Amino acid sequence: MEKKNHLKDDTFLQHPILILLVLVLGLVIMDPFQMGPVGGLEFRPVKHNIAPYKQVMKNWPRDNQSRLGLGKLEFEGEVFGPESLEFDHLGRGPYTGLADGRIVRWMGKDVGWETFALVTSNCVERSEKLCAKGNESTTKKQWKVEKRCGRPLGLRFDKESGKLYIADAYYGILVVGSEGGVATPLATHVHGKPILFANDLDIHTNGSIFFTDTREATGRLLRYDPPTKTTHVVLDGLAFPNGVQISRDHTFLLFTETTNCRLMKYWLEGPKTGHVEPIANLPGFPDNVRINENGQFWVAIDCCRTPIQEVLSHNPWIRSVYFRLPIRMSFLARLMGMKMYTVISLFNEMGEVVEVLEDRKGVVMKLVSEVREVKGKLWIGTVAHNHIATLPYP
Ligand SMILES: *[C@@H]1O[C@H](CO)[C@@H](O)[C@H](O)[C@H]1NC(C)=O
Ligand SMILES: *[C@@H]1O[C@H](CO)[C@@H](O)[C@H](O)[C@H]1NC(C)=O
Ligand SMILES: *[C@@H]1O[C@H](CO)[C@@H](O)[C@H](O)[C@H]1NC(C)=O
Repeated sequence: MEKKNHLKDDTFLQHPILILLVLVLGLVIMDPFQMGPVGGLEFRPVKHNIAPYKQVMKNWPRDNQSRLGLGKLEFEGEVFGPESLEFDHLGRGPYTGLADGRIVRWMGKDVGWETFALVTSNCVERSEKLCAKGNESTTKKQWKVEKRCGRPLGLRFDKESGKLYIADAYYGILVVGSEGGVATPLATHVHGKPILFANDLDIHTNGSIFFTDTREATGRLLRYDPPTKTTHVVLDGLAFPNGVQISRDHTFLLFTETTNCRLMKYWLEGPKTGHVEPIANLPGFPDNVRINENGQFWVAIDCCRTPIQEVLSHNPWIRSVYFRLPIRMSFLARLMGMKMYTVISLFNEMGEVVEVLEDRKGVVMKLVSEVREVKGKLWIGTVAHNHIATLPYP
């Protein structure tokens, strides 16, 4: 099976006509009207250090039973692009950020979903027109208006204070009390320049917030320090930094580089403090990372890379017209003839694979953005679909 797939991909690569087609398609989706979430803001593609496709796939363990296919889709048509999932200290939830800018929480069957918080007062008086609330909000329609109501992508409760911290693509890092309401902005600028695309965050025990500012090639890992209310650049020049997760003992954090298809470790303490190193090359495009009770890390991956993608990464100018945001990835994937499916993988602190779950035929899950393991159950978010998936685990 595996071998056959490789052969097919190789033949694809050998057809210059197909590569030309890719280029043409790339131009078509170049986003000349800058409607994309990062449209017109910054675009400076670089050559990426992406690990060779064959090498990664050769060593990647497969889930031959395609166990993720046993997952269940819940709340279909009730949540729109729920990227990040969180639970409060009372165990209530999930809480999730939606494509229409709201942060909602599940209050059980009797109450259902209720709006918990908003990232801007623009949208207190909500109207369908303004925020495209509804199942259309994960479609292209929404991209034009997304900025007005925000796009909360990363959510984290501070277990001590009960406050919810939010990474919003347009409104930066915000915080809201345990009663909800309109969130208060904490970090919108760094060194006087706006944060372009806050994507995910995690809270250090000392109160500092580590978060990603997603860009194609000049992405950053940033840190907000509450005592001084200042934001600092921790790492610069990253390739589409996305999910971030601090380790249990706070000696390091992990973050994903989506377009480099890899999991990175940044040391916060000890002899390697300040060093960053890749710890796992992945078969596809990773999104968020979330820790489980054993201190292991679930990574949500949209699979798979193809040899064509490797060509793109070695030729930045092609890629610059090809890649936009994961939000658009299913659309792009279709154009590119990639058969995207879902892989979620559990890693230990060394970056070794502990578990791989796939939905190889894409029967249940198509795109994933986050995996949360809570009390014998995996909760799986997706930025581009109107549902949440669950799976009993282990
Ligand atoms: C899955 O199948 C492939 C090929 O059929 C095989 O090489 C591999 O060992 C199998 N993996 C597991 C975990 O059974
Ligand atoms: C939204 O709902 C309508 C009516 O239920 C349906 O026709 C349409 O296909 C849905 N759109 C999406 C993007 O799911
Ligand atoms: C918290 O710890 C991190 C990692 O060691 C450090 O970078 C940061 O400055 C600390 N924050 C505060 C407020 O002390």
